[in-house]
Amino acid sequence: ALQPSAVACGKVILFGEHSVVYGQPALAAGLARGLTLHATPLPRPRDAIELSIPAWDLDLRLTPDSEHPVARACLEVLAHCDGPVTGWRLEGEARIPCGAGLGSSAALTVALARLALGAVVDGEPDLDEVIAASMIGERVFHGTPSGIDSAVAARGGVVAFERGAPCQAVALGASLWLVVIPSGIPRQTGALVAGVAARRDRMPEVIDPIIGALGQLVHRGRAALTGARLDVLAELTSVAHELLGSLGVSLPMLDRLCAAAVEHGALAAKLTGAGGGGCVIALCDTEALARGVIEGLAHSFPELARAPASAPFAVE
Ligand code: PMV
Repeated sequence: ALQPSAVACGKVILFGEHSVVYGQPALAAGLARGLTLHATPLPRPRDAIELSIPAWDLDLRLTPDSEHPVARACLEVLAHCDGPVTGWRLEGEARIPCGAGLGSSAALTVALARLALGAVVDGEPDLDEVIAASMIGERVFHGTPSGIDSAVAARGGVVAFERGAPCQAVALGASLWLVVIPSGIPRQTGALVAGVAARRDRMPEVIDPIIGALGQLVHRGRAALTGARLDVLAELTSVAHELLGSLGVSLPMLDRLCAAAVEHGALAAKLTGAGGGGCVIALCDTEALARGVIEGLAHSFPELARAPASAPFAVE
């Protein structure tokens, strides 16, 4: 049997996207609003598992011959967890958009692993086992993922990451608010990573120092988070956006969203994740939120509020 329901976080990269590919560290934060999966048994236990996540326009039957990556990933996660591979209906309540760099695939595989592993061990499953099971699915989606999305989707909070080392939880000196602003522009992480690599091949002596600087931002950002230095974080956030722009991964729309967030009261804003579309994050204090950052953005960009899962939202 599966657990009746399970949750997983979304994620944003705070600092270190792209430079993490070249061995630099990165910092990511879990979005408590992510995905909840509900499981109910089908009348016939041998029928294929039905998976429906309306906010992601996803409605699938998990059959062994399916070529759909979501079906393949989910079946591999269930098999890895010794969970049932037929006879259930899974209904997902997503409060993040998919394909926007917010870790939607890791949220799905983490929630699914929790449904299946909880049933096996009869209680809260072990976090490392959940993360390992999620990685099985993430490999189907992304080839050789770093693992940061799975770790953050399972743990939440702020996580420091370095390739080849275990993720570390980062304690915050004070709570801070982020407004997540999905641009609605689709993007492909692989193509953006390849674009940076091509620019680096053309002018390594120019691009390598930028990658190094993005790594240094992570060290300073971690210290500023622990020391509750919002002013420092704000400056680092703006510098990160400009450096990412110089790698060629921003877009005029992302630059406009950052500028508008600051105009409406945010302390600073940057693109998050691969860029080329996806999301912008705006660093806010409580006063900035009260001043109406979200309302101001919705006024300036009415096209942003297309659907509840893809409208700008605040997370603590
Ligand atoms: O797919 P996203 O938007 O979460 O971005 C991935 C982060 C990159 O550093 C650009 C790529 C990677 O594999 O770390």
